[in-house]
Amino acid sequence: MVTTPPPANDPRDVVQAKRDGLELDPDALRAFILGYGRAEIPDYLAAAFLMAAFIRGLSTAETSAMTAAMVESGSTLPFAGVTRPKVDKHSTGGVSDGVSLVFAPLAASLGLAVAKLSGRGLGHTGGTLDKLESIPGFRVALGPPELEAQVERVGCAIAGQTPDIVPADGALYALRDATATVASIPLIAASVMSKKLAVGSDLILLDVKAGSGAFMKTPPAAAELASMCVGLATANDRRAVAAVTDMSQPLGSAVGNALDVAETVDVLAGRERGRLRDLAVLFAARALTELTADDPLTARERAERALDDGSALQRFAAMVEAQGGDPRVADDPWSVLERAPVIRPIRAPADGFVGAVDAEAIGRAGVGLGAGRVTKADPVDHAVGIVIRAKIGDRVSSDEPIGEVHARTIDAADLAASRVVAAIDLSDTSHPPPLLVHGWFEPTPPA
Ligand code: URA
Repeated sequence: MVTTPPPANDPRDVVQAKRDGLELDPDALRAFILGYGRAEIPDYLAAAFLMAAFIRGLSTAETSAMTAAMVESGSTLPFAGVTRPKVDKHSTGGVSDGVSLVFAPLAASLGLAVAKLSGRGLGHTGGTLDKLESIPGFRVALGPPELEAQVERVGCAIAGQTPDIVPADGALYALRDATATVASIPLIAASVMSKKLAVGSDLILLDVKAGSGAFMKTPPAAAELASMCVGLATANDRRAVAAVTDMSQPLGSAVGNALDVAETVDVLAGRERGRLRDLAVLFAARALTELTADDPLTARERAERALDDGSALQRFAAMVEAQGGDPRVADDPWSVLERAPVIRPIRAPADGFVGAVDAEAIGRAGVGLGAGRVTKADPVDHAVGIVIRAKIGDRVSSDEPIGEVHARTIDAADLAASRVVAAIDLSDTSHPPPLLVHGWFEPTPPA
């Protein structure tokens, strides 16, 4: 492939080269990303670049240069003062995917340290930061010293990009959300890994989602994303392992912000079993086996126990309090979280077995209620959302309540309920539940 001439003084050259399918000069790409991070390049040009990259793709070298530039756009957080083993975890995005919210306090309760830079809702998927902000007072903008001090004291912190930390990812992430340029393997890999490489950790755990509610609709596409992310970590001398996990239906049952937090509390309190808990336990156990002397069985038992004996929940309350939120959310979520004024049941339209669920359509129904953004400037309504309890393989009866819509108006609730019902396929025969984990990706050992 032809390489663009070195550093373009005119950022339109970068867009033009990518539009024409040329391999970008790493310095030109770096200058473009840093320029956008400093708000020197306008949104319209960056949007054109993103669409060209989405359609033409980025090579490994370009993805690596873009990731490095996004890290360089802010300061890095080595967390040298944190004494416990440090683990970071990231999901590529799904529907009712509260794993990170459970994982961070769970891992902290097991003696590990988690400093996590998360994202906001993207497309039809929920965002950890938006969910946490449904807790009144919760602050996600933590400066590097505060983040480090909290991780050492509490064991975990979840924060967002700031002008100090990967600002270029913060800006590009919001622009991708608003320009239909999210579902690209290199753009997702660069976004995820810039946040992970900016933070010092001993282990990066990646949850790469595959299925109807994920950006990667099939396990092979998710595997490609997983191996690109693990490769970026290896190229930067960092250890990452990735699991490709099922997103062919909402993982938990809550799709929203306050609703997701309430579900997280139920899992952390040991009250909710199921796939959300199973995945959080799987990642916590993997972190323990990688970073401590625990064997897999002991690690798993310890993680399960921390959910059942209240120690993970207690860490969650401590993290919420440290970040300015009301810690009573851990005891009684709805005494603190805002409830939507209209709550309507979703009813099964017929007898049958749940055969397939279009999780993206359910996520979009949540966005339609206001739980996510359509344009960059949209506020998020923390109270609204969907609860959907029917899972693939379940038998349902006609008119049986299978969930709820939480909405601002009756019309909005009725529309969302009809969208959810349309997203669920009922069949006459029973289907086995999908595999939760399709496989793990480890760094390739040197030849
Ligand atoms: N999570 C991120 O941080 N970035 C993406 O692009 C997708 C999921």
